[in-house]
Amino acid sequence: MISKKQQERTMQTQQTHTTIFLKDYQPSPYTVLTCTLEFIIDSTSTRVDNVMEIKRQNSEAKELRLDGEMMDLELLWVDDVLVEEGMYTKEEDAILLPLDRDTATIRVITRIYPDENTALEGLYRSGGIWCTQNEPEGFRRITYCIDRPDVMTRFTTKIIADKATCPILLSNGNLRGTATLDNGRHLAVWEDPIPKPSYLFALVAGDLGSIHDSYTTMSGKSVALAIYCDLGNEEKCRHAMRSLKKSMEWDELEYGREYDLEVYNIVAVDSFNMGAMENKGLNIFNSSYVLADEQSATDGDFMGIESVIAHEYFHNWTGNRITCRNWFELTLKEGLTVFRDQCFSADMNSELTQRIDDVRALRERQFVEDAGPTAHPIKPDHYMEINNFYTATVYEKGAEVIRMLHTLLGREGFRRAMERYFENFDGQAVGTEEFLWAMEQESPIDLTQFKRWYSQERTPVLQVSSTYDGSAEELRLKIIQKIPKNTQNCEQLPYAMPLKLALLAEDGSCYPLITSDVPLFHNDVMWIDQAVSEIIFSSIKTPPRLSLNRHFSAPVTIECDEVDYPFLMAYDSDGYVRYEASQRFALETLESMMDSAEADERFIESFGVILSDASLDPMFKAQLLELPTITALMQRQAVIDVAAINRATEKLKKIVALRYRSVLEDQINRLYAPDNCAIDGKSMGNRALKNRLLGFLMCLEEEGLGEMCKMHYDRSLSMSDRLGALDLLENYAPALAEGAFEDFYARHAHEQLLMNKYFAIRASSRRSGTLERVVELLNDPAFDLKVPNLVRALIGSFARNPIAFYSRSGEGYDFVADKIIELDTINPQIASGLAGAFKNYQKLSSEDKPAMKNALERIKNHPNLSNNVYEIVIKIL
Ligand code: PHE
Ligand code: ZN
Repeated sequence: MISKKQQERTMQTQQTHTTIFLKDYQPSPYTVLTCTLEFIIDSTSTRVDNVMEIKRQNSEAKELRLDGEMMDLELLWVDDVLVEEGMYTKEEDAILLPLDRDTATIRVITRIYPDENTALEGLYRSGGIWCTQNEPEGFRRITYCIDRPDVMTRFTTKIIADKATCPILLSNGNLRGTATLDNGRHLAVWEDPIPKPSYLFALVAGDLGSIHDSYTTMSGKSVALAIYCDLGNEEKCRHAMRSLKKSMEWDELEYGREYDLEVYNIVAVDSFNMGAMENKGLNIFNSSYVLADEQSATDGDFMGIESVIAHEYFHNWTGNRITCRNWFELTLKEGLTVFRDQCFSADMNSELTQRIDDVRALRERQFVEDAGPTAHPIKPDHYMEINNFYTATVYEKGAEVIRMLHTLLGREGFRRAMERYFENFDGQAVGTEEFLWAMEQESPIDLTQFKRWYSQERTPVLQVSSTYDGSAEELRLKIIQKIPKNTQNCEQLPYAMPLKLALLAEDGSCYPLITSDVPLFHNDVMWIDQAVSEIIFSSIKTPPRLSLNRHFSAPVTIECDEVDYPFLMAYDSDGYVRYEASQRFALETLESMMDSAEADERFIESFGVILSDASLDPMFKAQLLELPTITALMQRQAVIDVAAINRATEKLKKIVALRYRSVLEDQINRLYAPDNCAIDGKSMGNRALKNRLLGFLMCLEEEGLGEMCKMHYDRSLSMSDRLGALDLLENYAPALAEGAFEDFYARHAHEQLLMNKYFAIRASSRRSGTLERVVELLNDPAFDLKVPNLVRALIGSFARNPIAFYSRSGEGYDFVADKIIELDTINPQIASGLAGAFKNYQKLSSEDKPAMKNALERIKNHPNLSNNVYEIVIKIL
């Protein structure tokens, strides 16, 4: 069945794309005090009866604008008077109602069609389950409303549905009553005592399994915890439940924040645009961030679940109780909450390996974004489609900006500033200005210049050089901030940032930093706020080695010719710098190999030193021994040449494998534990290291090695091992891979989460013929274009596979363009996510450009293109 709205949308021919500016922000003229909702859920449509108490906030206001789209308006009353058609103005995305009074009660009845909702915003069906997604602007697809985050409302929700198909009825807050009705129906009433913006509203109805637990908060209140999932998956929710309880405890210990409702519910659904959503008291999760057991999930999945569960839980204070004034302020809640979840994960696992993973992800995604056509500040000042701004910049760079404040204020100062933030702004919708005000109260330094991190874009570079004067025992350090121009080609200003550093003596020990030139915090953090800084350190007895940006204290790129990579890799007491040195050394080695030099012997030796160091934590060792990704190398090229990168990388791997063959084999054998699928740090680290080493060995492409790898696939009980082996077979022993894929498919074809992995490995393959295989897999019964996870696994992995995507023929571009066009009518958010694959357009060679341009133009000129895709494509072109 196709609703009226759906027809209108398909018939519409001219799309207008408008830009929204921060400078135009005005507080809402009216607010909504209470919103009392009644949902009657039927198999084909849902009727929503919404009663809102409206209050005027600006006495000048004479007209009430209610947002609403993609639904049928049935009836509308103002203070019990029926509003006839013609008494209000109806626009495509709102109704405008004359209203010249200070309070009013609006009642509006709408009909919506969850089964047709493939965009997965508003109320939709995932599998058989009715669920909602309202951030940022989904609530306006449920009912007419003032759908903006600075309007905070008390919600009461009555849900009526068939008891057999929907025994579970959930909404935000606390359960206030249930009743059985005629015709096999029943109802539940939920009441959320805490005012919230509409984007945090949620509803779930369906036949779900669940597990239950409870948590006693620090003040002794008991909270009922539940996780809901498809029937049969209950046992796979245990890890998520443990993670939730750990998160609740951590936020109490670390920030003194307690949970505030009687219940905390989490629901796992298969079709979800993002990772998860922090709806008040009723989180809705992509099932990939809930379900896990030792046989079906990888170590990475377990870690991911722990961090996303924590992230959504932490939003209860940073996001829900204190929310955003408007969507330009998104990083207020997201950057801060990512920072909090990163600290949590560091505390639960290894601080060092967590930090390395976070920086690695930042470089791989955010630095790339910041260098390309879609770069934006963490606090953007305009957008066409806000859904395009849930980015690595707003999230991950936003978290780095918070981390710099944490470094500046110190742990205690930061905690006091956070307390101030909570105390002053609880219950309000605020902006980053308010957050920074709280920070400033505890800051040893004025934050005016620091605030540029919020309004400027692109990654700054610090160019560092030094001169040593032995007779004076002085080291003179010169730091130049190279600030890139922004996307509009305008100059930007130097930043203020904490730079953690050490000057290392020959034995690796740190000289005390003695200087009067810059403020030093906590003994080893310099505050850099000049375009050019010159700093003299005294009492330096020997020429020191520079250990820069320790722990990645500032999100910048360091350029320094004097860094002694082998020394830092082996001796730096800052594990992050050791990792960084190994990466930079590898990058430079590979780059010189691309200029047809031989592999740098010193790199091979340093690699060997790490490889045979038995004292290293295995996870850390696996990180140190990782070679840079193709994406990382591409980023440093002015003109992209994927084939050259791949040739150099494979060659270097082979050299390493040949040189250290017996060490590799020996360690792989020692680390290989097929029966162990425990997820403690040591087991996970051993697996990661074993799989890393196996990756080097496999590129020798010998038959015996292929068989060993196949054996790992066959015998291992842990999914990390099995998938690691499957991926290596696909790339280095394709003849053996086929059988393994068949086996995997036969076992897991009905488990969507595992099919995601299957599709991702096939689409990430570096072998020739990948596109053909991907096209074929589109027809696999396990694939479904309507399920975002599957699209990301198959089409997204292909688009992120440089070797397949950037093929000279242009077939890769055409394929992805076709899928974007097709997906845009199904789910514009997912379509625009894929469009990001074309970001390197400007960096292609003149031979390669036309094919990509052609694909991009084809998308741009497609009639009825969504704002989502349009905004990305025009930025790229
Ligand atoms: N607010 C969610 C989070 O970061 C992300 C999200 C955004 C989910 C938009 C769905 C839609 O936790
Ligand atoms: Zn978030």
